[in-house]
This record gives sequence, C-alpha cells and structure tokens, in this order.
Amino acid sequence: MKFRIHTYGCQMNVRESEAVEALLVAAGHVRAESEEDADLVIVNSCTVRQKAEEKAIGKAGNLIAAKKVVGLMGCAVKRLGADVFKRLPKLDFAVGPRAFGLIPRILEEGRYPRLELGEDMVPECMDAHVEGGWQAFVTILLGCDNRCSYCIVPDVRGHEYSRPAREVVAEVRALARHGVKEVCLLGQSVLRYGVRNAAWDQSDAPSPGGYTEAFPRLLEALASIPGIERIRFTSAHPKGCTDELVRAYREFPQVCRHLHLPVQSGSDRILAEMGRHYPRAECLAAVAKLRAFDTEFAVTTDVIVGYPGESEADFEATRSLMDEAGFDNSFVFKYSPRPGTRSAALPDDVPTEEKERRDQVLLADQERRGQKRNDALVGTVREVVAEGPSKRNAARWAGRDGGNRIVVWDASAAPSVKAGDIVRLRITEAHPQILVGDII
Ligand code: 5AD
Ligand code: SF4
Repeated sequence: MKFRIHTYGCQMNVRESEAVEALLVAAGHVRAESEEDADLVIVNSCTVRQKAEEKAIGKAGNLIAAKKVVGLMGCAVKRLGADVFKRLPKLDFAVGPRAFGLIPRILEEGRYPRLELGEDMVPECMDAHVEGGWQAFVTILLGCDNRCSYCIVPDVRGHEYSRPAREVVAEVRALARHGVKEVCLLGQSVLRYGVRNAAWDQSDAPSPGGYTEAFPRLLEALASIPGIERIRFTSAHPKGCTDELVRAYREFPQVCRHLHLPVQSGSDRILAEMGRHYPRAECLAAVAKLRAFDTEFAVTTDVIVGYPGESEADFEATRSLMDEAGFDNSFVFKYSPRPGTRSAALPDDVPTEEKERRDQVLLADQERRGQKRNDALVGTVREVVAEGPSKRNAARWAGRDGGNRIVVWDASAAPSVKAGDIVRLRITEAHPQILVGDII
C-alpha cells in the first residue's frame, strides 16, 4: 500500500511513527508523496490534554471521510479503548502506544475493524529506523510509574520498563554506522533508567569510569561509540539529578549541556498535591548544581497553569521559581483534566480566562528571561549542528548548539555547509528565542 503517517504529540510519538514507517517499508509498502496520494493513513495520537486528543480524532475522521484505509495509533487509543470505534465508527484499526509493532501484521491480515491495546507489551522492533539523516531518537525507557495526579501517561503508556543497555548500545552503534551523529534518548523520565528493572546485566563489561548508576553508565557507553558526536536526552525529573549524572556531563563532551527539567509548579503546596515528591528548593538545587560547573548550562522546563485550587499566590510562586532558576526556555500548559487521573476528581476551578492570563504572563516572563540569558552569550563561540534553511528567513541557515539554542547565520557566508555539519559561530546578536552568529 501507499501510506502516510500523521503524528501528534511528543518525541516518543515521533519516534514510534518513524519505527512504523521503517517496518512498513520493510514489509514492502511504499511511502506516499502526499496524503491525497496515499491508500493508507495512520494517525499517531496524543491524549495529554483534551485538545490534543480531539485534534487526532478529528484528523482521523476527515481521512475516513476521504475513503482511505485509516489506522489510529498512540496514546488516545489506549485511553479510549473499544470506545474509539464509537468515536470513529469506520476506523479500520487502532493500536495502543506499545502495540505499534503489530501494524504490519494487521495490514497483512486485513481483518478490520481491529483493536490492539498492547498493555505492557515490549515491542520487538524498538530498533527499527528509517535510514538517512544525521539525527535519531532512541527510546530507552517505556511507560511511567510516577503517577503525578494530573497525568494520563501512566494509564496509556503502561508500567516503566528500561530496555537492556546492550540493546541500546547496539542500536546506537548501528545508527552511527549509517551516518547518525546525534542521538536523543527518550523516556518519560529517563533518569529512572534501570531503576524499576535492571538495564545492565552481570555479563556486561564493567564501567571503565566506575559509574554505578545505570543512566550515567549508559551515557559513558554511548560516548565511546565512534561517530556519535552529540548525545541528548529527555525528559528528566528533578529527583534524578545525581552527582554521577553531573560527572557524566562534565566528563563526556558528547553529552550536551542541556537538561529538560519539567518542574510543573513553583508552589510547594501544589507540588505536594500533584504528587511530584520534591519541594521547589530541590528544583532550584538541581539547577544550581548544573550551573555550578557551567554557567551556560541550558535548563528548560514545563509548567502547568490553572491546576485545581491554584491561587494567585501559588501562581506567583511559579513565576518566582522560574526566575530564580533562570530557565533558558519553558513550555507552559493550561491544566486540562484527564479522566481517571487523581486530579480529575477535583473541581477544575481556575476559569479558562484566568488560565489564559497566567499563560500569557509566563510567556512574557520567559521572553525577558530568555533575552537576559541569551545576551550573556553575545561574543561567545558556539558549536552548532547545521539543520537547514531558517523557517523565518530563507537567506539564513539555522542549527542548534549543545544547549538546544537555535542559532542562525547568513547562508551566503558558508554555501558549502550541509545539514548535519558542525559549524563554529561567534554570536553577534541575541533575541529571546534565537541567537545570530558569524561563521568562523
Ligand atoms: N494538563 C495540562 N498539562 C499537562 N501536562 C501533562 N498532563 C497535563 C494536563 N492534564 C503537561 C506537563 C508535561 C507536559 C508534557 O504536558 O507539563 O510535562
Ligand atoms: Fe502525548 Fe504524553 Fe502520549 Fe507523548 S506520551 S503522545 S505527550 S500523551
């Protein structure tokens, strides 16, 4: 069949769509040039907020109306279960976020409608990648056991499972052989790698540097793979910011000095209600630890505004935490109750307009803070991986430095630069979300 995959949601979904694409191509299907041209369209869905779920369901509905074979995969499938066929009566198949490996067989059998929820399944084809490209996502941790009060992810992505380190190392070696220079390790809470189940086996060679914690030890192993120039990972929980992690950041130049550390709130009362298991002081200590050895260390975060009972004082505590931490970037989400989560039993009592106002205030704060953090980088030299022409201005090229900061430069100054090349730039201009530099 000629197929297309349309993806909503986070990097985990992007990665799983890529794996499905690789599996379908291996099974003899062909990637279509456009959705109009496709016989089969798979929509990869998200359900973290109600709006995200509605978008995916709406998209699948439109495709069904266009008389394609339509499959839905991802988080919304697991949340809806068999009800997915009530929402989309003519949907052909639906697979949960851990069941994507079944798609080629489902297509082969062609017995529709079909539902595979997957529960705590560990897909066998976790290492399937589409060849080409200099950058790859690698899932190291499935599911989540944190059970934060507002979050649907543990219900939809199942229990935490760390993939064996030797599998991850083999996958990254194979990627490096195919020209990948940058890997981004994925998991809901990557710093819990090897906590619920062992990731390292007795028979694995001991850590050359004497690392005892599973995740820093994995960073050490990946940093020794020839051709891997950059290692990123996301997301982290403030509890996991250990001394060994900091040591790995210092010791391995391949490990990018960036941490995405979602704090969710700056109010100790709200943090406790969310079940985050840390007070604000612990977030600040984690950030301070990272910036103590490198003041340019980039820390980014997620916060939720309008959690049930969030008062003006709680919100101001979030604002002050974000300023004290000096986050380099932040993503603000308006609270959305998710059925079955603990907080869904509480009244969603912050009015929509107030959530919107709080969102806008935090965005404006971030613009100021981003400008201040970036101003300090003017005159510095950044190592940037070139990505391609800038979206806003085609005369410029854009790439990212180790801190995940977007840096742009005049394309005519370096016409031979290709995507994936590492270039050195001296920063000449700073904006809240972007740096401008001259090629050295
Ligand atoms: N409402 C709003 N935002 C949420 N997030 C997770 N669950 C919810 C929810 N119910 C946010 C968190 C998380 C990000 C991916 O989405 O900030 O870090
Ligand atoms: Fe959306 Fe969360 Fe699923 Fe990612 S893990 S697709 S953010 S619901």
